[in-house]
Amino acid sequence: MKLLQVAVLGAGRIGSYHVELLERQVEGIQVRGVYDLDRTRAQAVVDKFQLPRTYESVDEALGDEAVDVVLIASSTDQHATQIKQAAAAGKQIFCEKPIDLQLDAIDDALAAVKKHGVHLHVGFNRRFDRNFAEVKRLLETGAIGASHVLRITSRDPAPPPAEYVKVSGGIYKDMMIHDLDMARFLLGPDVESVTAFGSVMIDPAIGKAGDVDTAIAVLRYRSGAQAIIENSRQAPYGYDQRIEVHGEKGVLNADNMRDHTVTLGDRKGYHNPALPRFFVERYHQAYVNQFKAFVETLSRSGQPMPVSGEDGRAAVLLAEACTRSLKEGRTVRLEEFV
Ligand SMILES: NC(=O)c1ccc[n+]([C@@H]2O[C@H](COP(=O)([O-])OP(=O)(O)OC[C@H]3O[C@@H](n4cnc5c(N)ncnc54)[C@H](O)[C@@H]3O)[C@@H](O)[C@H]2O)c1
Repeated sequence: MKLLQVAVLGAGRIGSYHVELLERQVEGIQVRGVYDLDRTRAQAVVDKFQLPRTYESVDEALGDEAVDVVLIASSTDQHATQIKQAAAAGKQIFCEKPIDLQLDAIDDALAAVKKHGVHLHVGFNRRFDRNFAEVKRLLETGAIGASHVLRITSRDPAPPPAEYVKVSGGIYKDMMIHDLDMARFLLGPDVESVTAFGSVMIDPAIGKAGDVDTAIAVLRYRSGAQAIIENSRQAPYGYDQRIEVHGEKGVLNADNMRDHTVTLGDRKGYHNPALPRFFVERYHQAYVNQFKAFVETLSRSGQPMPVSGEDGRAAVLLAEACTRSLKEGRTVRLEEFV
């Protein structure tokens, strides 16, 4: 089978990591070249992985006839434009989350994808974590009957700098977006309303930048089920990622992942291995699984992508509803957005 050739746009934190995964961990695909606005970054990645080339511009990358897939890992404000450009060039697209911070820009990008008949996958990697995928599988088998309450706890180890927060779109679009997508993944798309709460508990500079660092959202589904999502920008004990679904006939619990399950008991108490440091350590296998699913889907042409552009839009819409709810201090019904 022909190897899929990828042009990577953006060689920052996640872009360079994706290159490593594609080159070393995923079969059926290889990186042909890299473009970054910062040429030294692109060159460093090309050198490190001995890739065929850097590109001088997005146009040059998209004009490369050998390229089948464009992987967009540039800063968020570039995604929608680059999706439109890649679609017009007839390339298949893998885009990091979020597609954009604004729904109008997302709609334009999705219209271009549709018009040019290409496929778009949005990088909600947590869907490919084996624990959360198992929760989903068990829910689908009816193991706990109807879902009543979903709880998602998602805490970062340390807050980002205020400069980052200023352009992030706020905690709901920047951080909770993963959990909002997870709520859709596990309980489905039929969210009726959201009520969001938030406060500044960690870094006053985050408050000055117009955001909160400790956030809760309650999603109410048409079925009556409710999802409670809790985010914190700071957990000194590590990257805390847990999910529980309480249902009619039982409960499903996906606990944190640790290196091993050995508990040491001594005079000071009982001790377990520390939590993963951050997302690369915790979700490494999920990122690999995501690329494998992407490659497999592309090889069966005509199949819908594992995470569609519409999924990407829906998560941003939920995040927008949360942002509005916090700002206006009220429950926001999703029908306000149609
Ligand atoms: N799925 C995940 O778990 C996950 C994790 C981290 C980041 N992300 C997303 O990935 C994207 C990148 O995040 P990051 O942490 O790597 O940021 P980063 O700042 O480390 O990297 C972004 C890179 O994009 C480059 N860039 C800017 N404009 C460009 C353009 N027009 N064309 C090409 N490159 C351009 C910058 O020079 C930089 O190297 C963001 O949208 C972020 O939300 C997703």
